[in-house]
Amino acid sequence: MITFREWGSGVPLVLMHGFGNDSSVWQAQLDAFSTRCRVIAPDLRGFGNSSGADGAAISMDEYAGDVLELLDALGIQSAVIGGISMGGYVSLAMALNHPERVRGLVLANTRAGADNPEWAEFREALARDITQRGAIAVVEGMGDKPLRADCTPAIRAQLRDMYMRQSAAALASATRGMASRPDRTARLGDLHVPALVIGGTADVLIPSSEGLVIHRAVAGSQFVDIEGAGHLSCLDTPQAFNDALDAFLVQFQGSGK
Ligand code: MLT
Repeated sequence: MITFREWGSGVPLVLMHGFGNDSSVWQAQLDAFSTRCRVIAPDLRGFGNSSGADGAAISMDEYAGDVLELLDALGIQSAVIGGISMGGYVSLAMALNHPERVRGLVLANTRAGADNPEWAEFREALARDITQRGAIAVVEGMGDKPLRADCTPAIRAQLRDMYMRQSAAALASATRGMASRPDRTARLGDLHVPALVIGGTADVLIPSSEGLVIHRAVAGSQFVDIEGAGHLSCLDTPQAFNDALDAFLVQFQGSGK
């Protein structure tokens, strides 16, 4: 079962969270955009209150398939699809494999490339550690890296609590799924959809240069490198994130439900 948060009415806007997060990471966007969008933030399989992870790899395509089924159930044919980090991997999978479902694309703090062998090996070791020790293995492994250095203690605590809420099975499944995701760089030129690429100048996990790779390959895309934002830019720099999204969404106003 896939659970989700839904707010507002208007153009459907689907926001997919990153690794170890859940739909609550999008609260500032749910608050800001529900006056003119139907904002839907799913808990990807196993995360939040969603079920269905058992520790075996869940591919980015499988997460995307779950979200498409959710859209079917909600009667939504196409939506503006966005994701941060791992949610960006899922968004890219959806846009490339089901372009007819994607009206617009938002890729935040993410990359198109695959893991190199060393990173994939590290992920497998992390997945085993998670299986033994639970979410604390992620908290310790991530440390302060997902957030800007000057982030408030409240947001740090919010993120730590979010990680700690996630089941070991969900975390291990996602870790293994990310390790086996394909390199989609060569297919970026196939995207013919309005796209917004967001980076953070203080993102130490996925540098803005990765966003630039996507931006340069996707014709007509916009690139916003948010000054001072960390990896979870939607959470640690929400106003600038929302400003970028706001400017992008203007083109979809009145484009139908
Ligand atoms: C995320 O935040 O989703 C992850 O850092 C992505 C990754 O590990 O590749």
